[in-house]
Amino acid sequence: MPLTHTRDLFGKALKGKYALGAFNVNNMELLQAIVEACEEEKAPLILQISKGARQYANPVYLKKLIEAAVSLSNIPIAVHLDHGDTFELCKQCIDEGFTSVMIDGSHLPFDKNAEVCKKVVDYAHKHNAVVEGELGQLVGAQHDDGEEGGGYSKGGLYTHPDEAVQFVKQTGVDSLAVAIGNSHGAYKFKGTQHLNLDRLKAIKKALLDAGMGDYPLVLHGASSVPKEIVQEINKYGGKLGEDTAGVPEADIEIARRTGCTKVNIDTDLRLALTAGLRKVFAESPKEFDPRKYLGPARAKVKELVRHKVKNVLCSAGHAFD
Ligand code: G3H
Ligand code: 13P
Ligand code: ZN
Repeated sequence: MPLTHTRDLFGKALKGKYALGAFNVNNMELLQAIVEACEEEKAPLILQISKGARQYANPVYLKKLIEAAVSLSNIPIAVHLDHGDTFELCKQCIDEGFTSVMIDGSHLPFDKNAEVCKKVVDYAHKHNAVVEGELGQLVGAQHDDGEEGGGYSKGGLYTHPDEAVQFVKQTGVDSLAVAIGNSHGAYKFKGTQHLNLDRLKAIKKALLDAGMGDYPLVLHGASSVPKEIVQEINKYGGKLGEDTAGVPEADIEIARRTGCTKVNIDTDLRLALTAGLRKVFAESPKEFDPRKYLGPARAKVKELVRHKVKNVLCSAGHAFD
């Protein structure tokens, strides 16, 4: 099946009220695990590639690997640039045939962020691609107090509903990544903290009230950092801290129902792969055939992705809607 456009995947996900899993790809095993899992679960899929992934694997290798996966599978797959940091990188990916790009200007002041985002949108829309922007900073829930008592301060760390409306109007961006206490990596929260789902609801409502309809929001940092995987890594020689913490799956579930149409997951894939590798190395220290350790690690990632699309994102079964 040929590549499917990100725009079409978003349209169907909004209608079907499920979230698209956007999984990061860095090598062949991760790619195969993600695609096989989604194929078996009949889940539409966004494969996303970061600047670091392009540097690690070489853009041409990644492109050819993805072409192979897309041509061998029968589910709809879109290809997306994750965290593009310059107009030039976004342009390059659009020219290479990505169906969407993210321009991440979230560290910039509002006007500068909007300016670079609009420049990418103008180019993308002329070249049949769509764009994800980001407003607010992904700093984790422990920083909520930094915002005048966790309030709605403009220019604060969390996405402000009115600024979200202004940003979308000013840039014409197709989807917006929000900061609601989410953050990247395996150490997201201290203690039992949650996403600020009220803030998410307020952003969604502000966009609706401003006439933007059911506007698609994106949740970065959506890994749940499963305790059992962390324990498995440590059981087989890993040294992850006691304080690993991810987004509770129940929060993702509410975020999905509140309008997070694209949910980004990378860390959980890394953890599953690492657990799979460590187990083989610990149990079979004489093993040195890469297929014997990469194979089980790939299977572990596949199991994780099947769980996500079936039980958390609810995209399973929607491939042929
Ligand atoms: O959000 C970032 C993704 O996990 C990609 O990470 O830049 O290390 O490839 P990376
Ligand atoms: P995690 O680190 O929670 O997997 O987030 C990944 C992400 O946001 C990729 O853009
Ligand atoms: Zn991200």
